[in-house]
Amino acid sequence: MSFEIRLGVRAFRQAGPGSYLIAVDPSHSTGFLWANPWPGRIGTLNARFLPYANANRMILSTASLVTPRTIFFVADPEVIKQVASDRTGIYEKDPQTYQVLNVYGHNIVSSNSLLWKKQRDAARSAFSEGHAQLMWKESCFAVREAIALLGAGKTPQTIDIPVFLRKVVLTAMSAGSYGRRLSYGTDIQDVTPHGFTQPFGVSLQTASEYMVPKWAIPRIAYKLPIPALQKFLSHMTRSYDELAKHFQGMIEETRLTLDQDDNFKESDDLYYNNLLRRLVAANTLEKHPSKRLTDKELLSNVYIFLLAGHETSAHTLSFILAHLALYPEVQNKVYEEIIGVWPTEEDAIFGTEEYTLAVIRESLRHFPVAPRLPKVALRDTILHSKGHGEFQPVTHVVPKGSVVLFGGVKTRKNSVRNGLLIRQIIAGLVMPSLPFSAGSRSCIGQRSGQAQIIGIMANLLRFYEIVPPSDLVDLPFAQRRDALLKCWLGSSLSPSDIKLVFSPRVKQL
Ligand code: HEM
Repeated sequence: MSFEIRLGVRAFRQAGPGSYLIAVDPSHSTGFLWANPWPGRIGTLNARFLPYANANRMILSTASLVTPRTIFFVADPEVIKQVASDRTGIYEKDPQTYQVLNVYGHNIVSSNSLLWKKQRDAARSAFSEGHAQLMWKESCFAVREAIALLGAGKTPQTIDIPVFLRKVVLTAMSAGSYGRRLSYGTDIQDVTPHGFTQPFGVSLQTASEYMVPKWAIPRIAYKLPIPALQKFLSHMTRSYDELAKHFQGMIEETRLTLDQDDNFKESDDLYYNNLLRRLVAANTLEKHPSKRLTDKELLSNVYIFLLAGHETSAHTLSFILAHLALYPEVQNKVYEEIIGVWPTEEDAIFGTEEYTLAVIRESLRHFPVAPRLPKVALRDTILHSKGHGEFQPVTHVVPKGSVVLFGGVKTRKNSVRNGLLIRQIIAGLVMPSLPFSAGSRSCIGQRSGQAQIIGIMANLLRFYEIVPPSDLVDLPFAQRRDALLKCWLGSSLSPSDIKLVFSPRVKQL
C-alpha cells in the first residue's frame, strides 16, 4: 500500500462515527471538481443542509484519500464562530487551499501569522466608515452612468446581470479603492490601452476565471504540441501578464505621488489616500523591514483586493437581484424602504436600511459567495456541537493536521426549505450564517461591500422593476427559480446564467 493510501486509511479511522472516504479533498484547490459532478454529497453545491439533516448532526467527518487528511464539515454556527474566532493559535487558514491565490506572491487572503498581520496592518486604515460612504457614493455614480447608457430607464432591457454588475462594481472599486475614476461606458471593458493587447477588464475577468487552471496545469503542458491547449494557455498567460502590467503601471504612478521626504501623511481625503496608496506606502516608505511589503506582496495584494472585492460584491448582488425578480413582494418592500430612506438623491445616505440589509443577509445565507472556508488544526483538539432541536450533541476528536471546513452552499438549518425568510432574519429567528466569516480573519471589506451592494440596488430599483425574462415568466415557480439560481464554484460562488429584464417604473423618482 502506498504511503498516501496508508495515511488516507489512518485519517479515515480517525474520522469517527458517520465518516466516509472521499476521493477529492473539497478543501483543496482542486476541490472545485468536487463542487459540481456529484449531486447531493456533502460539500457539493446542491447538497444544501440535507447531509446534516439526514445524519441528525451538525458536524460531519470525512477523510480524503488524495490529500490525505481528515476533514470535518461544520454547520453549527456556534462551532463555526468558535473556530473562526480562535485566538489561541489552534487553527489557521489552510495553506494548501489558498496556494491558488498566490499567482503574483503572498497576499492578505492567503497568508498566516506575521506575514498576514503586516498585510492586514497595511490595509486596515483604508477601510474606515468614511471609506464605506465613499464606496456608496462611487457605486451610485457608476450605476447611474450605466443606467444613463441603458437609456435612463425609458425602455425595457434584458440584461446579462453578472456581466453588467461586474462592470459597475469594478468601476466603483477602481475609484473608491484605487483612486481612478474610470468611465463605465468605455475604459474598462472596451478600450485596449497603448502598449497592451487586452483591456484591463478582460485581463481581470480572465485571470479570475482561470485561477485554478493557472495553478494546477503543470509546466510540461506548456510544451505539448496540442494547438487547442496551446491557444488556451497562451490566452491565460497573456491575461495574467497584462494584468500584472496594468497593476505595475498603477503602482508606479502612485509611487510618484508619494512624497519621499515628507513621508506619507494621514489625510481625510479618502479618494486621494486610497487603499492603493496605502499599500504602495507600505512598500515604498515603510522603514521597518518586518512591516514593509515586498514588491511581490504589493503586486499580489493590489490584485487580491480587487478580486476579493469586485467578484464577491458583483456575484452577491447578482443572486440578490435574481431573488428580487423571483419574489416581487420582497422587491416592493425593498423599493418602499429605499424611497422612504432616500426621498431625494441629494439626501441619500448609506446606513440604516434594515429590511434591505436583511435581504442581503438572507440571499447570502442561500448563496454565500465564499462557501468554503477551511482551517487547519495545528494541534490535537476537539470540536463539540451542543445539538439543536432534533440535532444530536456530538464531540469529535480533531487530530493535528485535520481540516475544519465551514459551509458548502446552504449549509444552514432552514435552508432545506426554499424561500426567503426575511422577517425571520430581522426577528433573529433564523440561525445566523457568517457570510463574511468571523474573528480576525473576517472580511475587511464587509461594510464597503454592503455599501456598494445597497448603492447599486437602490439606484436600479428607483428606475426599474426587475422581472424575469419572458421565456421564464410562464414556467412554474420552482423551474423559474432553478433556472435563475444555477451556480458554479470558481474563485467564488458564481451565477451561471442570470438574465433579467429591467422594466422602467411608471413613476420614477
Ligand atoms: C458581499 C461581499 C463580500 C463577501 C460575501 C465577502 C466575504 C468574505 C469572506 C467569507 C472572507 C473570509 C475568507 C477566508 O477566510 O478565506 C473574506 C475575506 C476578505 N475579504 Fe471579503 N467579502 C466581500 C466583499 C469584500 C470587499 C468589497 C473587499 C475589499 C474591497 C473584500 C476584501 C476581503 C479581504 C482582503 C479578505 C481577507 C481578510 C483577511 O484575511 O485578513 N471583501 N471576505
